[in-house]
Amino acid sequence: MAKSKLSGGEWVVITGSGLIIAFAAIIGSIVYLKPPPVNFIYEETLETAAGEAIYRREGCLSCHEIFGNGASYGPSLDGIGSKRSKEWIIRYLKSPWPGVSAKPYRLRMPSYASLPSSDLEKLAQYLLALKFIQSSD
Ligand code: HEC
Repeated sequence: MAKSKLSGGEWVVITGSGLIIAFAAIIGSIVYLKPPPVNFIYEETLETAAGEAIYRREGCLSCHEIFGNGASYGPSLDGIGSKRSKEWIIRYLKSPWPGVSAKPYRLRMPSYASLPSSDLEKLAQYLLALKFIQSSD
């Protein structure tokens, strides 16, 4: 009865290959499962441009960042139009509450209830035009 025995060197090769295959499988599934990159876009119209002017006038960018412009005392508003509805945004601008974003912030979002409703409407139009799209590559 010829029993085939593996030498020490062969075991090293076999376990080594096994480890390499396991490693490749893990890395492969991470790469495969990685979500596609997100692109932020701004769909400008006359109404959103009017809203952007109010956004600047009210100094929203002293706390918020859009396309890398502005400060980070509040959350970035890139893609906010894909996240929130117009009703939500107007309600939030009138009476904001803390804890809407994933991270805690030291500053509080001020209330803009004193703005005329036409301004709130335009601000909401502007924010709604900030969308995100998942690119297919
Ligand atoms: C003093 C700083 C400050 C200013 C000025 C400010 N914000 Fe904010 N804003 C915040 C902070 C902080 C939050 C996050 C609150 C939280 O989650 O606790 C926030 C949250 C928001 C959100 C909700 C974001 C989300 O993820 O849903 C919107 C929309 C928003 N702000 C719009 C505006 C607009 C429009 C203006 C100008 C009219 C403005 N903010 C001015 C600090 C500010």
